[in-house]
Amino acid sequence: MNKGLLTSNTNEWYTPQPLFEELNKEFNFNLDPCCTEKSAKCKNYFTISDDGLSQNWGGYSVFMNPPYGREIKDWIKKAYESSLEGATVVCLIPARTDTSYWHDYIFGKASDIRFLKGRVKFEREDGFKAGSAPFPCAVVVYNAI
Ligand SMILES: C[S@@+](CC[C@H](N)C(=O)[O-])C[C@H]1O[C@@H](n2cnc3c(N)ncnc32)[C@H](O)[C@@H]1O
Repeated sequence: MNKGLLTSNTNEWYTPQPLFEELNKEFNFNLDPCCTEKSAKCKNYFTISDDGLSQNWGGYSVFMNPPYGREIKDWIKKAYESSLEGATVVCLIPARTDTSYWHDYIFGKASDIRFLKGRVKFEREDGFKAGSAPFPCAVVVYNAI
């Protein structure tokens, strides 16, 4: 059991590069709104000191692997609202389908929901694999409106 990821005592769980590249082929991302300088997946990015949540994502093709703590609901809300402002937002998130943010902002609002087969092996700052996530993940897509 990967206790670190389960208890969210750090937000530094990075997307495996092959998974990012597969999605990038389809969406041609140009903004990572939540990352560190080292983990940024796109040329345009926001770190915690920029506060990606308070920035305008309109017009970008956004790859969002958000912090997995309580604040995840704010990131999903932002993803949905940004799609109404012309952003395409692709979210890699835990498939916690019983949560209020799934019901309030994903079901009936997302353009596509892709449940991933198997468990994602997130990467750590040092480049090591973190081991399999203790939860299933989904890719949620909001097309620009
Ligand atoms: C799950 S990691 C994903 C990192 C990277 N985007 C990736 O996909 O590999 C979430 C990142 O969000 C950053 N973060 C937390 N709060 C943030 C904020 N308010 N604005 C921007 N980034 C933030 C964390 O430092 C962490 O690096």
